[in-house]
Amino acid sequence: MTRDDRRSILLEGETTALPDFLMARMGSGTTYFALAVIRHLERLGTHVVNNAHAIEAVKDKLYSQQLLAASNLPVPKTMLVKFPMSAALVEKQLSFPVVVKTLSGSQGAGVYLCENRANFEDVMQLIEATNANANVILQEFITDSYGRDLRVIVVGGRPIACMQRKANDGTFKANFSRGGSVEPYPITPVIAWLASEAARVVNLDVAGVDLLFDGNAFRICEINSSPGFEGMEKAHPEMNMAEEIFRYIRVRLGFWEEALAQA
Ligand SMILES: Nc1ncnc2c1ncn2[C@@H]1O[C@H](COP(=O)(O)OP(=O)(O)O)[C@@H](O)[C@H]1O
Ligand SMILES: [Mg+2]
Repeated sequence: MTRDDRRSILLEGETTALPDFLMARMGSGTTYFALAVIRHLERLGTHVVNNAHAIEAVKDKLYSQQLLAASNLPVPKTMLVKFPMSAALVEKQLSFPVVVKTLSGSQGAGVYLCENRANFEDVMQLIEATNANANVILQEFITDSYGRDLRVIVVGGRPIACMQRKANDGTFKANFSRGGSVEPYPITPVIAWLASEAARVVNLDVAGVDLLFDGNAFRICEINSSPGFEGMEKAHPEMNMAEEIFRYIRVRLGFWEEALAQA
């Protein structure tokens, strides 16, 4: 990382030419080191999809909810835990059942549904005893969405595919990676608008936006910077996600005639 040469980087000790573009696929697992590398290449002028700032913003589920709420987009009511946590306050603000989430996580692993106050107090005690500095958020449970949600893929501001995900094991979590089933779902104007706005607000070029069903409307559950391809291609066998993203990258690199001719 010197100023000697702005067209190359040191990779495992070897001077290596800068790549034409960088697509980071680490999602919520993006470490400080990875963010620093992405930022560095960004500053050297490499095209990045997605940019480091956007990846960092959506890695933090509270921060991304704050950005969405500040733009008046519909999100579930969310609180940050400070121990000791008053169950009465949670009951008043969010009511039970309530969703407990780790600040950062994916594939449903850090997400738990507390059915009632006693259950909530037990879980809070367990977390506090394990790590009183743990960053945990509490979220209003969107009942209509129990065990099902929508995943929308947005590429370059455009929602390109939508699927409904359904849990198969009776749980409230609809993640495909947890064994959920998938089916194509139409991109209605409301879904298109919510998904593209969500991606725009956090400044992601490629985004997987999760929408919760709420009556005839939706709430934005979370936004992913590195959405999986497998579930979406299962729901839409005609679709090649990697090709869609690559076409967008080619447009960004200036090869738009060639890229759009294949669209
Ligand atoms: N507030 C909520 N109300 C209802 N269901 C929820 C809520 N939050 C999450 N879920 C369900 O749990 C799943 C996982 O939650 P999510 O926040 O997307 O975590 P992850 O990053 O692990 O995918 C969602 O896809 C959805 O099915
Ligand atoms: Mg999710």
